[in-house]
Amino acid sequence: MQTDFLVIGSGIAGLTYALKVAEYYPDKKITIITKTREDETNTKYAQGGVAVVNDLENDSFEKHIEDTLIAGDGLCNQHIVEIVVKEGPKRVHEIIEWGANFDKNPDGEYSLGREGGHSEFRVIHHKDVTGKEIERALLNAIHKKPNIELVTHCFVVDLITQHHLGYLVTKSTPDIECYGVYVLNLQTKQIEKILSRVTLLATGGNGQVYRSTTNPSIATGDGVAMVYRAKGRIENMEFIQFHPTALYQPGVNNSFLITEAVRGDGGILRNIHGEEFMHKYDHRLSLAPRDIVARAIDSEMKITGTEYVYLDCRHMDHEKFVHHFPNIYEKCLSIGIDIRKDMIPIAPSAHYSCGGIKTNEWGRTSINNLYACGECASTGLHGANRLASNSLLEAMVFAHRCYQDAVKKISYTAFKEDVPDWNAAGTTAPREMILITQSLKELKQIMSDYVGIVRTNERLQRASRRLDILHEETEALYQKTEVSPQLCELRNLITVGYLIVKAADFRKESRGLHYNTDYPYKAALVQNIVL
Ligand code: FAD
Ligand code: SIN
Repeated sequence: MQTDFLVIGSGIAGLTYALKVAEYYPDKKITIITKTREDETNTKYAQGGVAVVNDLENDSFEKHIEDTLIAGDGLCNQHIVEIVVKEGPKRVHEIIEWGANFDKNPDGEYSLGREGGHSEFRVIHHKDVTGKEIERALLNAIHKKPNIELVTHCFVVDLITQHHLGYLVTKSTPDIECYGVYVLNLQTKQIEKILSRVTLLATGGNGQVYRSTTNPSIATGDGVAMVYRAKGRIENMEFIQFHPTALYQPGVNNSFLITEAVRGDGGILRNIHGEEFMHKYDHRLSLAPRDIVARAIDSEMKITGTEYVYLDCRHMDHEKFVHHFPNIYEKCLSIGIDIRKDMIPIAPSAHYSCGGIKTNEWGRTSINNLYACGECASTGLHGANRLASNSLLEAMVFAHRCYQDAVKKISYTAFKEDVPDWNAAGTTAPREMILITQSLKELKQIMSDYVGIVRTNERLQRASRRLDILHEETEALYQKTEVSPQLCELRNLITVGYLIVKAADFRKESRGLHYNTDYPYKAALVQNIVL
């Protein structure tokens, strides 16, 4: 199969880009590939909303820029921060035109929420299900475009580059090119070749590398791993954001999020004894940036020897709570928590990858004809710690920038000829799924125990040795086994784990989300870790 514009991923980043390209080139073919259902994305689960400067009387671009830079702890690219903050309002306006609804107050103004690290109320939202509303509106618009084909249940296995034509490709090869992808069609079980003129990776995050995550099962870092295998550049993988307030439910790995907006509306963190504790850690209390709040909770859990702390909403206006957070209210009730009488047990959970595929200000990766945007990309916006609700905004702004560049790029790219079909020679059907499921459990255990919120040199070294064994065993299995999504995801997650550990080991300091007790201070030299 051949397509002009290939898009991997059907979250906010991939869909926004595809819509724009389809409008610009009604005569060109755009193909979106997604590995499960069309709406099963991190985007669908976004709760708090989109941080955007909307009310210029009480807010300003300068304040949003400043808040982003402070949260990023000295590592944001200021030029990129300015781009995202200043271009953000136009992109949000477009998504509203495509049909996304955001809550308004009785005066007809957008109702603005506040989250950690924000100096102003600036988060537009749709109740506590903002992502679901955005995903609905975008898919609706996509389905009306005759030149977009959305293909579900197809798993992209690898990018096609010169390597597949028999050339030696290394990190120092100057012009690595992407010609398309190999895709496992989950209906036919065959690996197909899709050739493209321009490819966009919008494959989302990698929360599944940890035992407890707010991310759905699709978040397995496939895009990052594919680019790394293709010898492209990956940046700042050590900065994994743990959301401070995921609902604590023993034995549940995909945690339900309690949006930070609850704290923005007055929710208070308390330890197991019911004592407020954030005053010991930061003057911004429960609304300090996420890295600080997550570390404070981790410390309180260790002091009290428990696996959770509480979020207290009992004093909040009940009617307002139910109006703004109906989904959270219902979820809590469904497990016997009445927020009027009971505090909500919460614990930090892996939530967001601040690093990823290194891109420039137009979303270009280090591989020719390959763009990346959304959570899988590292644009320079988040630095060492993402400011809450800046992710959806970043995805929209960079989807637009990728589109602007890609529509020009297409005029001087052609389909590559003589690309071989997938070679499955020598592989047989998997005999024991336990080899995959058990390795995945081990990986999550290693990452959670040794590469979590607080790190040490010894823990990182131990993680590195354990990952080497998993890597070796999984590569051996991959060489002799027919490809399956489970095996590919395990392989990708091991690569992601390796990249996180490697980058964490290279960073000889504590900054933002990376805290190593052996180097508790910031280094004088501010640098990005590129692998
Ligand atoms: P996603 O929406 O995750 O989409 C990834 C797509 O790639 C999926 O379609 C997936 O199937 C596809 N894919 C991946 N690998 C493959 C493969 N190998 N083959 C084929 N397809 C593949 N951010 C905010 O700004 N505000 C919020 O309020 C907010 N709340 C959040 C709440 C939760 C619970 C979570 C998990 C995240 C939240 N975030 C929030 C972060 C934000 O939702 C995500 O960063 C953002 O939605 C990512 O969008 P994306 O388009 O990059 O990726
Ligand atoms: C939340 O609603 O707390 C999540 C917001 C985000 O991850 O940006």
